[in-house]
Amino acid sequence: MPVTVLVGCQWGDEGKGKIVDYLSPKMDVVARYQGGNNAGHTVVINGDKYVLHTLPSGILHQGVVSVIGNGVVVDIRGLTEEIREIEHNGFSVEGKLLLSEQAHLILPQHAALDRAREQALGSARIGTTGKGIGSAYAEKMARRGLRACDLRNKDHFAARYREFAQYCNDVLTKFFGVEALEAEPLLEELLACGAKLSPYIADTVTYLNQQIAAGKTVLAEGAQGVLLDVDFGTYPFVTSSNPSPGGACTGLGISPRYVDNIIGIVKAYTTRVGSGPMPTELDNEVGVRMRQEGGEFGATTGRPRRCGWFDGPATRRALQISGCTEITLTKLDVLSIFDEIHICTHYDTPSGRVEFMPFDLEQLKHAKPVYETMPGWGLELSEIRAPREFPEKALNYIARLEQLMGVPIKIVSVGPDRRQTIRMS
Ligand code: GDP
Ligand code: IMO
Ligand code: MG
Repeated sequence: MPVTVLVGCQWGDEGKGKIVDYLSPKMDVVARYQGGNNAGHTVVINGDKYVLHTLPSGILHQGVVSVIGNGVVVDIRGLTEEIREIEHNGFSVEGKLLLSEQAHLILPQHAALDRAREQALGSARIGTTGKGIGSAYAEKMARRGLRACDLRNKDHFAARYREFAQYCNDVLTKFFGVEALEAEPLLEELLACGAKLSPYIADTVTYLNQQIAAGKTVLAEGAQGVLLDVDFGTYPFVTSSNPSPGGACTGLGISPRYVDNIIGIVKAYTTRVGSGPMPTELDNEVGVRMRQEGGEFGATTGRPRRCGWFDGPATRRALQISGCTEITLTKLDVLSIFDEIHICTHYDTPSGRVEFMPFDLEQLKHAKPVYETMPGWGLELSEIRAPREFPEKALNYIARLEQLMGVPIKIVSVGPDRRQTIRMS
């Protein structure tokens, strides 16, 4: 069966973009299934760095068709700019990009609402990317959203947009007490973007199902990570979609029957951007060194990422929900700087030792990570190209994580470049 789902099994930024790019030569189609331009997926080719936000990370390959699925929320100004940039860098999207006609649009008003909400929350803010993701999904669920198909007819779009802009301005001014957005100048810009995107708008559900029926290989690219999932993450400090593999079926319109492989992407340590619990966070010099060595700054917002040791209960929770068939372990090279490496195996809570991160934040706030310590390997890993070249202590670390996760680690990544990727068996 032809569908592989690739999913982040922590709080995002696990290196999904790099691994999607690495797997793309074997794929006919790469399809994003949820999230929007809150994602920042980095691909490095021969030292050149590309950060993809709404475009699937297979877009840099000539023979791959990129699909933006119905479950994605699309900032049409952002996507137009992203296409312009990628073309400026010499990559073509012509004939190899499809945008689902059912995908909901992120409009400038959504971003304004997102920012107004965050500001009103004050110290309780979620720390969103400010891209309007939550507002766009909320409007979708409230059945007021505009979709890509609405861009096909300018008059129809303009009428729906004006109605929506009026509603948002009421909320912005009357509820949040902030300035209204001038709708008309934005409309011109949106229509221009809509005209540029309209050649790509298609029935991607039929396309994907035809590809599957023809035995083509499809890679479903998740954004964010399972611990940011609106149902399974550290709610309310989550994103507003389902990054977990179930989201691939609803976000692309394909049956779970066709999914035969689920690759979990796991960083060798833990990072998180924005607010919310992170039991293994290192709010000290060690965390600062990890951030510097790992270049842990947001690919979308540039914010410093919070860093900490590998969190077993959090990752196990993500794996419990995802049913991964294999793991790709990324950024192992970053841990080379440490003499000792700590691994959180469990949490101690008032009701005893637990193996899975609690869903209830009131319980999670009392959870204390239980660590074990392993010796560091003290050698750079970035030039390693085969499993036998790893120092024994690094192999021991990989084996211990594999044991704690209960899923085989089949690929290990030791640097941002495509070539720094090692198949373990
Ligand atoms: P994504 O959102 O999951 O695609 O991840 P991001 O692109 O936001 O963040 C991952 C960062 O780590 C990017 O800067 C990548 O270039 C980089 N990266 C990916 N894999 C590795 C690795 O194995 N080692 C190192 N040092 N960097 C990596
Ligand atoms: P990729 O795909 C890491 C976080 C934000 C915030 C929360 C909600 O690159 O892994 P949102 O803007 O989605 O409403 O913000 O989710 N967040 C991410 N963190 N990687 C991402 O994407 C993220 N996308 C959103 O920081 O805490
Ligand atoms: Mg990212």
